Amino acid sequence: MTPKTPTAMKGLTKKVQLALTLTAAATSLISVSTNVVASSVNASSQSQASSQTHALSVLSISEQRRLQHRLSNVEAEIERLLPQLTLEEKVSLVHAGGKFHIPAIERLNIHEMWMSDGPHGVRYEIDRNSWAPAGWTNDYSTYLPPLTAVAASWDPHMASLHGNVLGAEARHRNKDLILGPGVNLARLPLYGRNFEYMGEDPFLAAALVVPTIKAIQANDVGATAKHYALNTQELNRTGVNAIPDERTLREVYLPAFEAAVKLANVHAIMGAYNEFRGTNANQSKHLIKTILKGEWGYEGVLLTDWNVDINTYDAAMNGLDIEMGTDVASYDEYFLAKPLLEMIKAGKVPEAELDDKVRRILRVQLSIGMMDKQRLSGERNTQAHRDDARTIATNGVVLLKNDNRVLPLDSNKVTNILVLGPNADKRHGFGGGSSEVKALYEISPLDGLKAKFEQAGSKVKIEHMRPASSQFMPIPNDYLTTRHWTGTPSWQINYFTDTKMEQLSSESWIADPQFDSKGKAQIIEIKANIKPMETGNHTLKIKGSGTVSLTINDNRLVSSTQVTDAKVLSQDIKLTADETYAFSLTYQGDETVTLGWETPNNLYNTEKEYLAAAKNADAVVYFGGLSHADDRESIDRPDMKLPGQQDEIIAKLLTANPNTVVFMIGGSAVEMPWADDANAVLWGWYGGMEAGHAYADILFGDENPSGKMPITLPKKLADTAPIALNDYNEKESRYSEGVFIGYRWFEQQNITPQFPFGHGLSYSDFTYSDIQLSTDNIKADDTITVTATITNSSNIAGAEVTQLYLHDLNASVPRPAKELKGFNKVWLNAGESKQVSFNLTTRDLSFWDVKSNDWLAETGEFEVMIGASVADIKLRKKFTYTQ
Ligand code: BGC
Repeated sequence: MTPKTPTAMKGLTKKVQLALTLTAAATSLISVSTNVVASSVNASSQSQASSQTHALSVLSISEQRRLQHRLSNVEAEIERLLPQLTLEEKVSLVHAGGKFHIPAIERLNIHEMWMSDGPHGVRYEIDRNSWAPAGWTNDYSTYLPPLTAVAASWDPHMASLHGNVLGAEARHRNKDLILGPGVNLARLPLYGRNFEYMGEDPFLAAALVVPTIKAIQANDVGATAKHYALNTQELNRTGVNAIPDERTLREVYLPAFEAAVKLANVHAIMGAYNEFRGTNANQSKHLIKTILKGEWGYEGVLLTDWNVDINTYDAAMNGLDIEMGTDVASYDEYFLAKPLLEMIKAGKVPEAELDDKVRRILRVQLSIGMMDKQRLSGERNTQAHRDDARTIATNGVVLLKNDNRVLPLDSNKVTNILVLGPNADKRHGFGGGSSEVKALYEISPLDGLKAKFEQAGSKVKIEHMRPASSQFMPIPNDYLTTRHWTGTPSWQINYFTDTKMEQLSSESWIADPQFDSKGKAQIIEIKANIKPMETGNHTLKIKGSGTVSLTINDNRLVSSTQVTDAKVLSQDIKLTADETYAFSLTYQGDETVTLGWETPNNLYNTEKEYLAAAKNADAVVYFGGLSHADDRESIDRPDMKLPGQQDEIIAKLLTANPNTVVFMIGGSAVEMPWADDANAVLWGWYGGMEAGHAYADILFGDENPSGKMPITLPKKLADTAPIALNDYNEKESRYSEGVFIGYRWFEQQNITPQFPFGHGLSYSDFTYSDIQLSTDNIKADDTITVTATITNSSNIAGAEVTQLYLHDLNASVPRPAKELKGFNKVWLNAGESKQVSFNLTTRDLSFWDVKSNDWLAETGEFEVMIGASVADIKLRKKFTYTQ
């Protein structure tokens, strides 16, 4: 097996290198705290610096002059334009003039400023004034692996590739701001949006958000870091009050935003839906005026998330710049529209506050070249972008377990492969909520495996099966045409307060026609449209305890019938393939009800069939995990279990064939009760449009896995901090674990997770040796350099992510036993050794001191730990710090 040279060695295009160089040169980044990511990106920042020098040398002088000229004129242009705007025109700029744009002022050559989701691909075009799709046929784009995969690569270069594709495609679609990247932290595994973000660690997210933003903005598009701040659950997402203590806020939930502002000069930040200390985050004085625009010196815009609960005065006075998505009848009714105009006219809000917002909007518009005829025009769906999507997907795959070296599969010996699992042929791009992408195409895992062995003469045979559970199964959502707004095939569920089904108490969505009344007598209706795949007799089955009715296309098939758990109710009906039928099940009872069916030609293989095939196969690959029925905006998962009957099926497969590879796909942790029995486990996130190719390359050793977990995989939900501390509810999040988020909590509580943060194996073996410190005593404002040697002791080339954790041994406040403060991904040929190097500065040693309201490094002893994961420390050394 000879894995290819790592794609991390590939360069960015010259154009992007130029723009990166000039943006950095012409922008005065706030110099404080540049060490937020400095140590982590040590090696790559050196290569970036040299590529920038190179870029300058290969670009024409006139190109350089043009960009420099644009940026150096921004402030003068703002001051030229501002006095020419009427009060009404200025107000028109600070709120939406459509679903995704703010208005133009044509007489001054100020254009409409267009925004688009989202973090892993430019979203399809949405109607100018409503949420309906605009119906375009040329709005396909590259579906990139979501940011969890970038985080799992632990590679700033992957972040740059990601940002560059996003920026170039946004420009090509004539967008001005892309609504990403998302950098909220994965505090709670149930959170529906973890998949959009960069993992659980503040340092890792800060380190990777910087190259992402720089690469987006190098394409003359503004990036939008979101959601500021503390958006860590979807449960009552617009009402829950986040009340972390100040130290937790500063050390855990803000560093990624701080880095976005100070180190990447991000043009836009989107506020969070949730409240912060009793007021909506979009109008929080502390978050915006004091920290973002005060301490950090942010000069870009703060825009709201779509439809937030704010009020005109607080929003205007506390630094909100643009209001988007408010659910009112006309744009004039936005909080920052007529109500703001009236407040200014009445002298209640000073016009200077409005001027500050308009200056910021113009600054963004001018910086990204909205008035520059020579603005970059972007490109979309290019082969290079597809290659980048594949590279990122490959680099994000994490090899969690590889006992007996089951992997990589050897295509000379493993010629009969059984592929199963709900994600084998699932496509994920069009789902998850606002981050959905209308992908040009999407290679499923099954497609990827087939493509690898399609060539004539290949000995490898791929057999695909859908395993049926031994349990009673709800109608699989493969047949659904009804979708929740997040794009997920779903059933709508209505709750009633009266038996006549007249008074509706609420409505919601569920993935399967299965409902648990949880001991309360509930009256519900579950509705969806179903498209059968075969014509013929379908036997509908209802299992549960209570009273049920079932209608199809308004024809009543079952009428107020009592069912008991002991006896499944069956009803035959003839259905026609490809016709759509409106199903409606009503239920009154206090237990579980499930609607299942038997179809003429069952999509699913019986247990007997699939286990016999598994026993017979040389290897079994089970693609399981989550989908966007679980990982999606607006809804958290109910538990951390694998959906459906996956645990049962995986356990049976592992018994049937020890060469079973469990390949998990998903953006959040799941329980894996079978993990100890599995020889080979991989985690592939959602892999974007090239997922299947990337996964097949890893499985067969054409690529060597090099990802590491950016989240902890707990054994069970109860082990996680928010659940253990009873801090997950609709009302308030106290963040009671303080700075002990993720792995820091597991270490503090001495809980062993299933797989720890930072864990990831390779087909190569690496050894760590020779830790050296540049000094064993550093003083305030000094830097200490930590070096170590990493050797590839195997005969396979591969990459290792070396991680640096720090422990403050004499802290006066509780500090984690390990805090990630550096990482370094190195590619090593067989037998090769390289030295890795990390710089630690005073900020790395510091905690947020609530007494002085500042960062504080305390005199005392520190331990540096270098390892392959938080739980696999290979080298240690101590040093002292003196103030
Ligand atoms: C999401 C944002 C998104 C916006 C616009 C909101 O529901 O929270 O992340 O950018 O919609 O689609």
